[in-house]
Amino acid sequence: MPSWNSDQYLKFANERTQPATDLAARIALPAPARVIDLGCGPGNSTAVLARRWPAAGITGLDSSPAMIAAAEKDHPHFSWLTGDIATWPDPTTAAYDVIFSNAAYQWVPDHATLLPRLFRCVTPGGALAFQVPANFDAPPHRLMRELAATPAWRTHFPTAPREWHTHAPAFYYDTLAPLAAHLDLWTTDYFHILDGVDGIIEWYRGTGLRPWLEALPDDATRNQFLADYRALLVPYFPPQPDGRVLFPFHRLFVIAYAK
Ligand SMILES: C[S@@+](CC[C@H](N)C(=O)[O-])C[C@H]1O[C@@H](n2cnc3c(N)ncnc32)[C@H](O)[C@@H]1O
Repeated sequence: MPSWNSDQYLKFANERTQPATDLAARIALPAPARVIDLGCGPGNSTAVLARRWPAAGITGLDSSPAMIAAAEKDHPHFSWLTGDIATWPDPTTAAYDVIFSNAAYQWVPDHATLLPRLFRCVTPGGALAFQVPANFDAPPHRLMRELAATPAWRTHFPTAPREWHTHAPAFYYDTLAPLAAHLDLWTTDYFHILDGVDGIIEWYRGTGLRPWLEALPDDATRNQFLADYRALLVPYFPPQPDGRVLFPFHRLFVIAYAK
């Protein structure tokens, strides 16, 4: 797993946190006692949960020590765990009223096993709630893959450096509906308003570009990759009259309520 940089990630804190706010607002539980945020990053989504349920005991978990350190610094009053969602938790001891995740499960493999396992740790009447980006076929992602496959770049990427793990809505329905009392599924298209194509590159330097850039040997090579990527992006994002660009971002939301 490539390393995460909380400062780079939080350059777009409002845009990245809005889906967490929207998801938390739709969880129909007035007062859960124990809430955990899986893949909490620097704690921005965890803080949303504390605002939604001020009396709840709140825990954040992330596999990145740098993210947990940033989270702990900004929010010392929550509980923080360093750990891997793929192996968390011990199902015999874990019981949470809300198991929440915003923009993290796309990095975790095997959702067919992961989600039922997590759902078994939700208390009766509680909720498993998550949001995953669902825009991996959109131009910014497609162009990363296409650029890496060109003759100029493919020697640097003998194997594709990452694999996304997000599925279509029907997969999540089929996986969780048989186990759940009730399921809510929806998608939202956010239009992030960014400062030109460079804003899109800055956005992805905090997330989707990291695995590609970290496979490259040095800064000069990374800068050339970004320059080539930028040239491919430009035709897809014509500026508005004020010079800014509209960056559409499709996201999938799931809430499964336990029986
Ligand atoms: C895009 S950030 C989301 C941060 C935050 N939840 C938010 O709403 O902005 C994804 C986070 O998931 C974490 N992550 C990725 N794979 C993980 C795993 N297998 N176990 C735990 N955390 C993981 C990363 O370290 C990163 O902090």
